[in-house]
Amino acid sequence: MTAIIPWICFCALFSGIFASQHRRKDGFQNTLGHLRTSTPTEVQEKAAKDLIKRLLGNDVARLFNVIVDPNLGPSEKDTFQIKKNDLGEIEIRGTCGVAVTWVWWQWDQWEKNLDWMALNGINLALAFNGQEAIWERVYVELNLTIDEIDEHFGGPAFLPWTRMGNIRGFAGSLTTHWHYQSIRLQHRILQRMRELGIIPVLPAFAGHVPRAFARLFPNAKMTKIDSWNKFEDRYCCPYLLDPTDELFQTVGEMFLRAYIEEFGTDHIYNCDTFNENEPGNSELSYLENVSRSIFTVMSSVDPQAIW
Ligand SMILES: *[C@@H]1O[C@H](CO)[C@@H](O)[C@H](O)[C@H]1NC(C)=O
Ligand SMILES: *[C@@H]1O[C@H](CO)[C@@H](O)[C@H](O)[C@H]1NC(C)=O
Repeated sequence: MTAIIPWICFCALFSGIFASQHRRKDGFQNTLGHLRTSTPTEVQEKAAKDLIKRLLGNDVARLFNVIVDPNLGPSEKDTFQIKKNDLGEIEIRGTCGVAVTWVWWQWDQWEKNLDWMALNGINLALAFNGQEAIWERVYVELNLTIDEIDEHFGGPAFLPWTRMGNIRGFAGSLTTHWHYQSIRLQHRILQRMRELGIIPVLPAFAGHVPRAFARLFPNAKMTKIDSWNKFEDRYCCPYLLDPTDELFQTVGEMFLRAYIEEFGTDHIYNCDTFNENEPGNSELSYLENVSRSIFTVMSSVDPQAIW
């Protein structure tokens, strides 16, 4: 029990500092500040109580009472109050349940990680699993062959770099079983995040596409990404669609629609076009166009989208 108190106190202290610094209208409310969990308070309370049970065991967990009260504290700020109540329980009252990410991880590790996030007051987190499974559906619909899809996806340990357009097909491909597992896992992660009041940030389309796009869409405007870390051509350099090509919108929307159809959305997304790779064109208007096209995809699919 001694372990949990400092964490929660830290969380309360942090929220307090955060609240006082941001009380002035400073743009925060116009960007991320209005993001709110839509999870009912009872569900958040149960998720927080379950977390305490996992952490401390049933006997000790009985000494805790968790109350979610959205009206506690300054409006639009996360606030926590901890006291001993009349029943001798440690009462944790807060505006959110407990204000709350790797490739080989199965649910057990994810569950611990999500508990850790919750206890540290993290309430916005990347939730990027399952994206290759959804991309596979989109690629099949676009008529890529299975061989073409296999040569695009990197193996599990290299997915971050495949996602950033740095490499392709390295230590791949991905199996049907892998895709199935990643979808199941992502559903569990999202459910728990939402129960705990953690807002998941979902993946979106950054513009990178498999080499097979040159066969399928010979008139599409796209450039080959430069080699990353001297990877040979076989394993590097997918194409990057030009933001002004209508295929950018088409493909981006297909992906995001399919992803949301599978997993739902909390209206906040992330993707990186130039992560460890240089824009082929350094004109400001090109970079502007890339960003505009990414956001146009997001907001066409989800009018409430935030990037
Ligand atoms: C995929 O192939 C089918 C059958 O040949 C065709 O009807 C469809 O238009 C193609 N889809 C795309 C996106 O090119
Ligand atoms: C940016 O987009 C505008 C409007 O589509 C286009 O006219 C312009 O050429 C684009 N800039 C670059 C550098 O591609």
